[in-house]
Amino acid sequence: MAEHYVVTGGAGFIGSAIVRSLLREGARRIVVIDNLLTGRESNLDQVRTSIDFQRADICNYQEIAPLIRGASVVFHEAALASVPRSIHDPIPSHDININGTFNVLRAAREGQAGRVVYAASSSAYGDTEVLPKVESMTPRPRSPYALQKLVGEYYCGIWSGVYGVETVSLRYFNVYGPRQDPTSPYSGVLSVFMKSVLERRAPTIFGDGEQSRDFTYVEDVAALNLKAARAPNVSGRFYNGGNGGRITLNQAWALLQELEGVEIAPNYGPPRAGDVRDSQADTTAAARDLQHSPQYSFEEGMRRTLEWYRADLQGGS
Ligand code: UD1
Repeated sequence: MAEHYVVTGGAGFIGSAIVRSLLREGARRIVVIDNLLTGRESNLDQVRTSIDFQRADICNYQEIAPLIRGASVVFHEAALASVPRSIHDPIPSHDININGTFNVLRAAREGQAGRVVYAASSSAYGDTEVLPKVESMTPRPRSPYALQKLVGEYYCGIWSGVYGVETVSLRYFNVYGPRQDPTSPYSGVLSVFMKSVLERRAPTIFGDGEQSRDFTYVEDVAALNLKAARAPNVSGRFYNGGNGGRITLNQAWALLQELEGVEIAPNYGPPRAGDVRDSQADTTAAARDLQHSPQYSFEEGMRRTLEWYRADLQGGS
């Protein structure tokens, strides 16, 4: 593999998984850019001495441009996630997800980086009648977050077409796994479920719990990123990063109760604004062009994740 990697948002849940995967593959020079707004240095505890951690903000071009210059691959994971957060407070998510992404792309172009692999989002599809969701569908964003992530993806396409900067966008489908922060009101639902079941508390399900997601284990997403960094003839394209399955929230909570051997009825609240009903990835294009095949079933991913949260809650990890 080429030699100089940059991971923006590298102290975050997904970014730190990419960092660990790069190290496992023998990468020697990894620059992590993170302002620690939602990322945590503890996510990099085991690898701290093998990387170059730079506390810098993608919203500050002068700060990040020298760090990106000459990179072989930039994995752009820094973002302000969450659909509801973007609805309640659209300004910071606009600044970070659109202007920050612009800065990263500008720095990649001016610094002659080899390729940018961009963390796009399945939310771009919105509510489509047809499942699974395939890349040829017209995007129908339903929230500021979905639109912002889509704008970033369009910018990647433009950077490739107009300036010849290699870019690949990966539309993540509800990523879960170890290190996802369960403590914010905007946390991913499975991290919240994990904490609830381990603390023997009822979670709140927004709506009837029959909405479904193609929950994707973080190690599969990290593996997909490494493939996207290397694949030939994919510049300017975007690919689904999902499993191809579909799990309802009721099923996910049932599995966690089963794994823990408990029975806890969830609370049901009103549906959440901006929510998509069903989400499921068509994985054909990623398999064909990126040779990607997910390795973790939902149950296996959930088992591993649960064990990680158990150890974390006990202060053991
Ligand atoms: C969306 C994107 C996802 C992206 C994520 C970033 C879609 C289909 N997915 O996730 O690709 O990575 O934004 O933030 O647009 N819920 C509860 N109880 C809770 C928390 C959530 O019932 O305590 C429900 C939500 O209402 C929603 C589902 O769980 O129906 C998933 O919510 P969440 O984990 O926030 O992710 P999405 O908004 O689906």
